[in-house]
Amino acid sequence: MCGIVGYTGPNPALSKVIEGLRRLEYRGYDSAGVALATTLSQPLFVAKKAGKLINLENELASDHASAKSGIGHTRWATHGGPTDENAHPHISDSGKLAVIHNGIIENYVELRAYLEKCGYKFNSETDTESVVHLLSEEYKTTKDLSAAMRLVCQKLRGSFTLLAIHSDDPETIVGARRNSPLVVGLGEEENFLASDVSAFIAHTKRALELGQDQVVTVTPNEVNVTDLFGNGVTPKAFEITWDANSAERGGFAHFMLKEIFEQPKAISDTLAGRFNDEGKVQIPELKNLNLGIDRILILACGTAFHAGLIGKYALEEWSKIPVDVELASEFRYRKPVLSKNTLVITISQSGETMDTLMALRYAKELGAQTLSVCNTIGSTIPRESDAVFYTHAGPEIAVASTKALLTQIVGIHLVGLFIAQEKSSLSTAQINSLAAELSALPNKVEEILETVEPLREMTRGFKEATSVLFLGRHVGFPAALEGALKLKELAYMHAEGFAGGELKHGPIALIEQGTPVIAVLPPESSEIAEKMRSNIQEIKARGARVIAIADSSIDIDVPHLIRIPKTIELLQPILSIVPMQVFAYEMAVARGNDVDQPRNLAKSVTVE
Ligand code: AGP
Repeated sequence: MCGIVGYTGPNPALSKVIEGLRRLEYRGYDSAGVALATTLSQPLFVAKKAGKLINLENELASDHASAKSGIGHTRWATHGGPTDENAHPHISDSGKLAVIHNGIIENYVELRAYLEKCGYKFNSETDTESVVHLLSEEYKTTKDLSAAMRLVCQKLRGSFTLLAIHSDDPETIVGARRNSPLVVGLGEEENFLASDVSAFIAHTKRALELGQDQVVTVTPNEVNVTDLFGNGVTPKAFEITWDANSAERGGFAHFMLKEIFEQPKAISDTLAGRFNDEGKVQIPELKNLNLGIDRILILACGTAFHAGLIGKYALEEWSKIPVDVELASEFRYRKPVLSKNTLVITISQSGETMDTLMALRYAKELGAQTLSVCNTIGSTIPRESDAVFYTHAGPEIAVASTKALLTQIVGIHLVGLFIAQEKSSLSTAQINSLAAELSALPNKVEEILETVEPLREMTRGFKEATSVLFLGRHVGFPAALEGALKLKELAYMHAEGFAGGELKHGPIALIEQGTPVIAVLPPESSEIAEKMRSNIQEIKARGARVIAIADSSIDIDVPHLIRIPKTIELLQPILSIVPMQVFAYEMAVARGNDVDQPRNLAKSVTVE
């Protein structure tokens, strides 16, 4: 997720663009850059710098007051680390054309190969650079940036918000979007383009929403929208009702709720490009690993540890390799037996968690191969690993991890499918079927989010509870652990997750009249469905107030039944965890807690 801004009008473009980037920096802060159309048909002014926006601002020696149009970008790296070369804008060979991009171009490898054959030289590792050279190629024929953009977008696969400027037409900015946001801000003899309205809300509350596969051409006094074939389109106009702060949160009350709602897209982006036309799993990042392994050990902390516990089931079942999962902070202080035939997988959103980093280093000393599943490109843990699978959840601002978790689970399942494919431990038919189940998840999460209001209302009925227990079996057990962690860290209340089979070995003594228990149920077809029913009968008989999470295959008599869509049992936590995230969120709101920065916690624990 990156921040994108464009301005064209009578005021100095640089100050408008930088101001917009400041408002969008929460969308990505790996690097920042601007391109300004200063002189007709001369190379653009371009400045770009790794790191936060302030690094770029410190580089800008002049305000370039003569530049009346410009584009700016603040990056959340997806392809290529956070370096100056990979920073946007990306520039054509002539220096007269600049492009900025948010999203993932899935076919950039083929495009790059074609363009290199045409003689283009690439200066970055990004997928975006293929777009600027393709645009430059088309522009040679069309001499019209909008027409060139339409032709280029017809060739792109994946998601994109693109902005481009060319010094042949210095007042014009051309944008395009597919599965990535782009809005137009309508000013007085000036116009804006941005990823979201927070970039220009200080200047105008009048905006246009652009639809899928549309190209917009903006000058100070005109906005023209077409489809990819040049047919005119009337965009939807709207009045912005948010203030600047809530605009950053996309109108949500908290970043955490916004990120819960971003989960369908985060999963889609993590899955993007991972299955080729024959349905084969493609993870070229793992090609350097020797998969002649006899053991997999997953190391992580907190929510990432729960992702590992959930992923273990499928990873072991599909790859036929024993999988263990261990807290990184515990692993470090024992004398494990590892070898070069052990694959250690670390899971980390930030890529900077010190416990996980130290465990990684220890595992490497002991001779293991290492793979990182990480959400932050260029962070320390992936840099020190033999291979890395990047999730594409985008920046996760709230301390309580939500979308990063679901994409970590998806990532581990993709790794498991890839290993099974390489070792032929699953048939092609099995892999195709599992790939289809994974690909259906974003819509299923979306379906759950449509029921979020009744769930929030039900949660408020538990506001006075002093403790909530969570119950699950098989993959439902680590899902229950995650539900308990969310409630602890957000509502500051006691919460504990139990394996259903463990209840009778002690924890059932905790159950008394009115004790809230959230029970995660498997599909009816599961061999543990009956066992979970019995657990629910046992705790109901002792007065528990049961909230069950189940798909429609399960019928159960409980005071609160939260339905989730059907999927295979191994993938069910990706769906069952969402209501528990919402439960914890709403409990925190009801208790007046700081949802995005809960007390005593940090987003990345870089100390041991
Ligand atoms: C999750 O809600 C917590 N904020 C915390 O447990 C987190 O998952 C843990 O600190 C690991 O962080 P990482 O994924 O950045 O390594």
